Amino acid sequence: MTAVGTTTGRPSAPDAPPAPEGRPPAGEHVAVARGLRRRFGDREVLAGVDLEIRRDEFVALLGRSGTGKTTLLRTLAGLDADHEGSVRVAAARSVVFQEPRLLPWRRVLPNVVLGLDRTPATLERGRSALAEVGLADHARAWPATLSGGEAQRVALARALVREPALLLLDEPFGALDALTRQRMHRLLRRLCRRHQPGVLLVTHDVDEAITLADRVIVLDGGRITLDEPVGLPHPRPRSHDDVERLRRRLLAALGVDPTEDG
Ligand SMILES: Nc1ncnc2c1ncn2[C@@H]1O[C@H](COP(=O)(O)OP(=O)(O)OP(=O)(O)O)[C@@H](O)[C@H]1O
Ligand SMILES: [Mg+2]
Repeated sequence: MTAVGTTTGRPSAPDAPPAPEGRPPAGEHVAVARGLRRRFGDREVLAGVDLEIRRDEFVALLGRSGTGKTTLLRTLAGLDADHEGSVRVAAARSVVFQEPRLLPWRRVLPNVVLGLDRTPATLERGRSALAEVGLADHARAWPATLSGGEAQRVALARALVREPALLLLDEPFGALDALTRQRMHRLLRRLCRRHQPGVLLVTHDVDEAITLADRVIVLDGGRITLDEPVGLPHPRPRSHDDVERLRRRLLAALGVDPTEDG
């Protein structure tokens, strides 16, 4: 696994700068966690998590509220150093959270290239990332003037401009209405086909996981209790028998009675 940064215990470079030339080739691991444990006080939230994500693989992480999904994502992002076990992640990684986290006193384009050098080439990359998320006209807009969906697209552009080998998404569409969420799903699939990062998407939403993921994992009791390839062609309508069967398996793994859902 060349060109994959290593963090064991305290990562030396949280939120590492972009290293497009250091991107591992497709198929190689961009995240490997072994025996990952994280404790808050007396509570062991992660109790020995083993997880591998490859380049060009879209993994959805499901779990009930408070099971440690964000904790796991933050650890892979290098934002939480107080763990046991080993974590190796690609140096080129980006994180998108549920809220877009844009700086309100900077216009959209400077938000997209935040933390990068301000060379003309970087600004051009920022503009083309904005174009990819359909916001080419909003480069000079202020964040306060954006809708929730637009702001989250800016957050996606900010993640993509760093050409991540590993893209970490923590419920990025949770605050959006159903129609906007569907549009964002299509956009994200398109962007992932083009950029081919390894993706870990944290979501509460079983249908979102089935719509997007190549593989779905369930976190429960501090461990991964289900790890299942999806293996279904797109699109994946709920009316399809295989989709419905997978849905029921995932709901069962989450301890939800499928007859009570939706
Ligand atoms: N900094 C912290 N200090 C103390 N406890 C924490 C801290 N961060 C998380 N926890 C606890 O760890 C557990 C897991 O939190 P985490 O945010 O990872 O859950 P989650 O699966 O992302 O939940 P949700 O689906 O609601 O976002 C929770 O019980 C939470 O209260
Ligand atoms: Mg969370």
